[in-house]
Amino acid sequence: MKFFADTADIADIRDLAETGLIDGVTTNPSLIHKSGRDFIEVTREICGIVDGPVSAEVVALDHETMMKEAEKLRKIADNVCIKVPLTLDGLKTCRALTDDGTMVNVTLCFSANQALLAAKAGATFVSPFVGRHDDNGFDGMQLISDIRLIYDNYDFETEILVASVRHATHVLEAAKIGADVMTAPPKVIRGLVNHVLTDKGIEGFLKDWDSSGQSIL
Ligand code: E4P
Repeated sequence: MKFFADTADIADIRDLAETGLIDGVTTNPSLIHKSGRDFIEVTREICGIVDGPVSAEVVALDHETMMKEAEKLRKIADNVCIKVPLTLDGLKTCRALTDDGTMVNVTLCFSANQALLAAKAGATFVSPFVGRHDDNGFDGMQLISDIRLIYDNYDFETEILVASVRHATHVLEAAKIGADVMTAPPKVIRGLVNHVLTDKGIEGFLKDWDSSGQSIL
């Protein structure tokens, strides 16, 4: 399973990239706003830190303007992945861009039928938002299972990118279902390493090591 960092915070991305655990980055207009940085500049900087796909989202709602925005965004770097909303204009833009060899992430997916459309439009990634789905009384993980089943039924190559991940259980469930990618805030990614028994184990080993009076170096 690939891990993407869902942030536009350069310090966080650098720090996580050094662990070797992240395979890409996703941003959205809200995350760009939060970063306080210029969209193009910060995207260029992120693309220089990670080798994998870096999602940069268009904000236009009509196909023609989406294409113009995508044209500007894809010039930033080879690893830019254009993010488009799951609308008919977004899907039309997706088809045009992927036919032209550009990676596309179709975002704001909340139903399996929407995911089916994204795959038919040739999306590189589809982003079902599990956290927001749960928040609104739906079952985010059921959505991921349904999309997995449909994509496997037809051998669609579109990768399921689980988004709006809020906690470790989302990551675990998505991995069990066989989602291709998950994108999460850096705090959630770092939190995956935590286990009370690991901490307790280290404490016990170090106590005994101290008592042995030995040193490795
Ligand atoms: C995905 O690409 C989105 O940027 C993101 O996962 C949205 O998450 P949120 O629902 O926590 O804002």
